[in-house]
Amino acid sequence: MHTIIAKQQLSPNVTRLDVEAARIATIRHPGQFVIVRQCEGAERIPLTIADADTEKGTITLVIQAVGKSTCGLVAMEVGEAIRDISGPLGHPTEMITQGRAICVGGGVGTAVVHPMAQGLSRAGIEVTSVIGGRSKEWVIFEPELAELGEVVVCTDDGSYGRKGFVTDAVKERLDAGGIDVVYAVGPVPMMRAVANLTRPYGVKTIVSLNPVMVDGTGMCGGCRVDVGGTTRFACVEGPEFNGHEVDFDLLADRLGTYRDFEEEASRESVNNPTSRCTGDTCRVGLTH
Ligand code: NAD
Ligand code: FES
Repeated sequence: MHTIIAKQQLSPNVTRLDVEAARIATIRHPGQFVIVRQCEGAERIPLTIADADTEKGTITLVIQAVGKSTCGLVAMEVGEAIRDISGPLGHPTEMITQGRAICVGGGVGTAVVHPMAQGLSRAGIEVTSVIGGRSKEWVIFEPELAELGEVVVCTDDGSYGRKGFVTDAVKERLDAGGIDVVYAVGPVPMMRAVANLTRPYGVKTIVSLNPVMVDGTGMCGGCRVDVGGTTRFACVEGPEFNGHEVDFDLLADRLGTYRDFEEEASRESVNNPTSRCTGDTCRVGLTH
């Protein structure tokens, strides 16, 4: 059991939970994730480890409430316990050893970019974080990223920071030169746009993919993605891949497979919000 020791609402549908998981906090690396089950028989939800505190023995999970199971998780309160947290899973982020990096975070993906920026900064890399949200209230992890280097905030409506998508600010930095690598995490259209932007500059671009996951161990094939014309399993071979080789159309297509079921379950949980876990949602994972 993993007790929730802190809870914070980061944006209208994104919640941060700091949860006891001492072993994972000690051995995790940037880019790795866990699979969470709220109770026995519940849906398995892949979530990136957004941060960890080895002294307190806690990890930080950032959850976008988009379906029944994620709504159940964010309805949990401090003092309640999550049944299972498996991990750390996946490959750690591929770090550069010198140079300059841009870390691009779109919406809730900013929480996934945070441990990458943290790892790079700790390795002595100069990091600029470019983060975006629909409007001011959707911008997350700005203070945490500001501790690691320069932060450029973008909002679609201009209510905070620069007006426009993150790609506008990334393009300016690429034009200025001196960028060795770009890391990008966010909605599929954003990662595709960043990869298309960096390609002509020849700047290496790493994206973190969020396909449907079930077991997280390479057995079920639920998380398969196409990278460079080869099928790869994101849970054991990723979740990070070369953005210039990812088939984003296929990823978007597969992510849409369960949308109708998800919307139905989501409507149900909005009408009946509860942290009580019924264990009847053991279907597919959603996002991390
Ligand atoms: P959002 O749709 O509000 O977009 C966030 C920001 O991304 C925007 O403000 C903009 O700056 C940028 N963006 C969006 N579309 C763009 C485009 N076409 N071109 C350039 N920039 C663009 O984000 P959200 O609602 O927080 O994210 C939801 C999606 O992100 C979900 O579909 C979820 O599955 C996905 N997600 C992915 C990961 C991952 O690991 N890749 C992690 C968490 C969530
Ligand atoms: Fe089953 Fe990756 S989640 S193989």
